[in-house]
Parts: sequence; structure tokens; C-alpha cells
Amino acid sequence: MIYPIVIFGAEVLRKPSVELTADYPDLKKLIEDMFLTMAAADGCGLAAPQIGKNIRLFVVDCSAWGEEDEACKDYRKAFINPEIYEVSEETDLFNEGCLSLPGLHEDVRRPIAIRMRYLDENLEPHDELFDGFRARVIQHEYDHLEGKVFTDRLSPLRRQLLKSKLVGMSKGKYRCAYKTK
Ligand code: NI
Repeated sequence: MIYPIVIFGAEVLRKPSVELTADYPDLKKLIEDMFLTMAAADGCGLAAPQIGKNIRLFVVDCSAWGEEDEACKDYRKAFINPEIYEVSEETDLFNEGCLSLPGLHEDVRRPIAIRMRYLDENLEPHDELFDGFRARVIQHEYDHLEGKVFTDRLSPLRRQLLKSKLVGMSKGKYRCAYKTK
């Protein structure tokens, strides 16, 4: 099933998510549906709060960057209970968007590399270094699990300038091609 995507202003996007337990019902199906939902909205990442579930789970699809970044080639993965435990001092800017903030694109500064522990969709543990576009997408999705969105990372001035747009969005003033709620 394709879920409607929750738009900025909803409380579920602002609550920290809880860890998933091994007995979570129909986890495989939920992950499959998140991949479907992300693809239908043409996204490269989707976190569970964006479909109304405050659980520590997100999916990414970096395959569109496969030409520029070898590690992104056919890279589609689910991440459960992730924990970013180290970030690089070096940062860079990248123009980000978010399915929950339709029509908004801003340059966001983030570390260029991270180390993260997580479980994959078979609940196998991993401890991995990510850089390039994968590090960017993963940090964006990870923020969703902490109740954050990318505009929280902009300068206070930039946020001030975007304020009326964000208020409008939270009141339903936005346009996008996918199903929302
Ligand atoms: Ni997002």
C-alpha cells in the first residue's frame, strides 16, 4: 500500500521516535510499503514519522546518484534503530528538499561523513562508515527520527524569512503530485 505523506505542521513529525522491537507486527510489509510510498513520491528517503509512525525506521534510495557516486549505484536500504555515533568535523552544503515540506529547497550544512550502527531489514546488526550522498540522505532521515526537519538546521535569519511559507504549508497551502495528509 502507498501511504499518504504527512506534511510539516503535524505533531508526529516533531516527536522523537521510539526503538523498534523484534516482535513489531508485519515489519517486512511496512518496509515494503515505505519503499513503494517513497518511489510513488519520487523521493530518495522516507522516515516512518512521515507516514505517521513514531518508530525508528527509515528507507533510502540513492540510486539516482549512481552516476556521480559509485557507492550510490542501486543503493536501496532500510535502517532500523540507527545510531549515529560519530560525525566528521568537515561539513559541506547541499541543497535539500523533503517530501514533508513540498516545494521547499534550501542549502543545509552537515558533516560530510558519519559512523552509524543500525539493524537492516533482517534485523542483522551493522556498524558502518557513510560518506558522499549516502551520508547526506541518512542524516536527513535520521533527523526525522529525532523530531527534526531540515529547516531546523538553517540560520535563524533564513528561518525567519521562510516563516510565512512554513505557516502556510502547515495550513494546507502547498502543491505536490503525491498523496498527503
Ligand atoms: Ni525529509
